[in-house]
Amino acid sequence: MICYTKGVTGPRHLVSIADLDAAEIVRILDHGDRYWSLADEPIKKLTSLRGRTVINLFFESSTRTRTSFELAAKRLSAEAINIAASSSSTTKGETLLDTGRNLLAMHPDVIVVRHSFGGAAAMLAEASRCAVVNAGDGQHEHPTQGLLDAATIRRHKGRVDGLEIAIVGDIQHSRVARSNILCLSKLGARVRLVAPWTLIPRGIELIGGELTRERVRVCTRLEDGLDGADVVMMLRVQHERFAGEAPRFPNTRELSRTFGLSERTLQYAKSDAIVMHPGPINRGVEVSPQVADGPRAVILQQVSWGVAIRMAILERAVLGGPSSAEQAA
Ligand code: NCD
Repeated sequence: MICYTKGVTGPRHLVSIADLDAAEIVRILDHGDRYWSLADEPIKKLTSLRGRTVINLFFESSTRTRTSFELAAKRLSAEAINIAASSSSTTKGETLLDTGRNLLAMHPDVIVVRHSFGGAAAMLAEASRCAVVNAGDGQHEHPTQGLLDAATIRRHKGRVDGLEIAIVGDIQHSRVARSNILCLSKLGARVRLVAPWTLIPRGIELIGGELTRERVRVCTRLEDGLDGADVVMMLRVQHERFAGEAPRFPNTRELSRTFGLSERTLQYAKSDAIVMHPGPINRGVEVSPQVADGPRAVILQQVSWGVAIRMAILERAVLGGPSSAEQAA
């Protein structure tokens, strides 16, 4: 039986990877491993969260994250309710906190929240009796993505410790990058952040203090950044977060030519390097179709891991850890 943090009572929020130590991250990954093979079973339903309620509150668009949280809840027999911003009362002027308070009055067990404001999940968690799980808050963090990425790497490489991992693209606006920098460094990897200077926030290598100062390095040439890499993680340019900013690169074609991943540029990395992307992919921009659909890409396995890891996160949120009885319903 995996045991989560001893003696903690009350809701187990997941707001940030910064709140987890390495042992806790490994416990969540081990917990997710239990659900990886469930996808191959004809009946994919367990009973551990029967009678529980999970509210997915999404103020930003999402395909993978929202669907996998819903599936994860349903596979554990919880009720899953989805609320999209366009159909919620925020369009009538209600604040995030008031929306949260009203949802809490209906006594859910977990609120999963995605919002364009970095800090939204922490704000809700502070006001909440039930567990709050961050499904992406602005440019801050996307902890479940960091965890599912670590699970995918561990599956394909057998470990995370000691690996060289290149994160390439729009680091500036990416919550995926921030969660991965923290998660992968805590698990012992070395991380290269690969982008033009204009897409790398100053001081990003200090995001996790001394740990990341030692483990994270910035590379402004793709060739250097990929040299000897075991894992290449590509990021989408977050055009929706550029509003009001001076242009950070001449045009997308130029960025794609200098930092895009193709069969040619992938050769800078190790010959067995895997290629990752959190999605949605802009084919032909950050990654060529040949690479995205090629044998080194594990992009769709990331999506599969997304369900397993989110099952673990929901059980952790409600039960404090894995259920002891994992019987098919
Ligand atoms: C990412 C996100 O929303 O932060 N996608 C995801 O959750 N799978 C990355 C992105 O939108 O580019």
